[in-house]
Amino acid sequence: MAIALHSLDLEADVRRLKKELNAVILAHYYQESEVQDVADFVGDSLALAQEAAKTDADTIVFCGVHFMAETAKILNPKKLVLLPDLKAGCSLSDRCPPAAFRAFVDQHPGAFVVTYVNSSAAVKAMSDVICTSSNAARIVARAPADRPILFAPDQHLGRWVAKQTGRELVLWPGSCMVHEIFSEKRLVQLKAQHPEAEVVAHPECEAAVLQHADYVGSTRGILEHVLASPRRTFIVATEVGILHQMQKHAPDKTYIPAPPDNGCACNECPHMKLNTLEKLVLCMRRRTPELTMPRPLLEAARAPLDRMLDWSR
Ligand code: 13P
Ligand code: SF4
Repeated sequence: MAIALHSLDLEADVRRLKKELNAVILAHYYQESEVQDVADFVGDSLALAQEAAKTDADTIVFCGVHFMAETAKILNPKKLVLLPDLKAGCSLSDRCPPAAFRAFVDQHPGAFVVTYVNSSAAVKAMSDVICTSSNAARIVARAPADRPILFAPDQHLGRWVAKQTGRELVLWPGSCMVHEIFSEKRLVQLKAQHPEAEVVAHPECEAAVLQHADYVGSTRGILEHVLASPRRTFIVATEVGILHQMQKHAPDKTYIPAPPDNGCACNECPHMKLNTLEKLVLCMRRRTPELTMPRPLLEAARAPLDRMLDWSR
């Protein structure tokens, strides 16, 4: 799509529009580097939700995917929430349609439902509590001991959490199109070429990949681990956008993206990359696309999210 922009200094446009809108710009680590660089806050899903919950800005400009902006809206029903590209979805969320999820929940009466934040508001509304990759083990550990636990939609995160907590989980068979294609074979070859490297991975990766990781955690967890580690070289098994903050904060270390099994050298989320700096400026200038939701859905999805924030304190 050709985008009409009148200024060449897009960063200056963002700064000016931010004042006009009294806006805060929240960005996920998988956004383009130039989008991360103009954001007020860059974080993982939990940190972004916590930031959205406490902001006093009138407008939240969310540079991430749809479910993340939805979360910000649920927590701030009266604020204007903008998403530079409304089509920025998520394969995990797409692979868990609300009607099929309803049937899954109904097949397990009495179960406690833990839902990963990478899901639609309608799915969240059918859940007891939400989790992210950074608090999933803590949340599941707090689930009632006398009830079966349903975990959706990411089966790989679910398996990893079951292993961490020793809790038995009934898993929804979902997966992320980015994390499921890391190649175990190519990772093992890379480790052999770089025996000094530490392998860091996101828990959305398959167990076959996670077994080779020295550290498994959320995007923020991975970043903090890499910055604190005495090692100098890292093989990184998550979306390649995270490398920007690593290079910015520890430019003297070496980061090698783990390869997917499609012949490419790194792995990008096509949904996250729909947002661009140009679209960010346009959405702030036009105050659209705006994230809107019917009020009953906003209200129904709020309680499980509030419970997550409460259990994460
Ligand atoms: P984080 O919560 O770890 O940032 O993960 C979000 C995500 O979409 C991973 O694919
Ligand atoms: Fe969704 Fe995967 Fe993209 Fe994360 S990386 S937003 S889970 S499709």
